Amino acid sequence: MKVISAHFVRSVVNIEQSPAEGYPEIAFAGRSNVGKSSLINCLLNRKKLALTSSSPGKTRMLNYYEINNALYFVDLPGYGFAKVSRKERDRWKDLIEAYITGSSTLRGVVQIIDSRIGPTDLDMEMISWLAYLKKPTMIVATKTDKLPKSKRVKQLAMSSRKLEPFGSFDILPFSSVKREGRKELWKAINHLINENT
Ligand code: GTP
Ligand code: MG
Repeated sequence: MKVISAHFVRSVVNIEQSPAEGYPEIAFAGRSNVGKSSLINCLLNRKKLALTSSSPGKTRMLNYYEINNALYFVDLPGYGFAKVSRKERDRWKDLIEAYITGSSTLRGVVQIIDSRIGPTDLDMEMISWLAYLKKPTMIVATKTDKLPKSKRVKQLAMSSRKLEPFGSFDILPFSSVKREGRKELWKAINHLINENT
């Protein structure tokens, strides 16, 4: 998809506030600080549309971005941020759960992992849950610019193996800095949108 227009719509804390236009939605999930917002900016060719931060846990709401008056990207709040209270963590879970199970226009989830670390326990929990809900899910391993070339093949194979219990995933290597994987991810997103229409 050629990005002609992209703008921030709104942040919501409960799904009743979600925009009602009915455009298809692609959600971006991942641990706090993994690079979700940077990846969205990279896809949309914008430097600062989605707020990025070096202090994790800044995005605590569902952030909607509208593309070409035809599609929404939803930046989900990052999980696994150590310094939040139990209460806040529960609120996060409720919000994500309500969104994933409640949105009738959600076409697929781009699940982001760190290419250097592979899927963490919380990533696995999220991915198993998406599989249980039968949500089409793409796995993207980001920050490959920080992954030494010599470790790359082994590291990606290890990630695939870890995810085997939840399905067979082609993990897409990505770097927001080098813009690696951008074309391939757009192709996959287009596929998710068109597949279900
Ligand atoms: P929360 O909104 O807090 O959940 O974080 P996020 O997942 O949106 O992460 P964000 O995009 O804000 O990025 C976190 C940090 O990682 C920032 O300092 C980014 O500059 C850095 N970062 C993101 N993507 C990449 C990448 O591909 N390569 C490198 N080297 N750094 C990246
Ligand atoms: Mg973010």
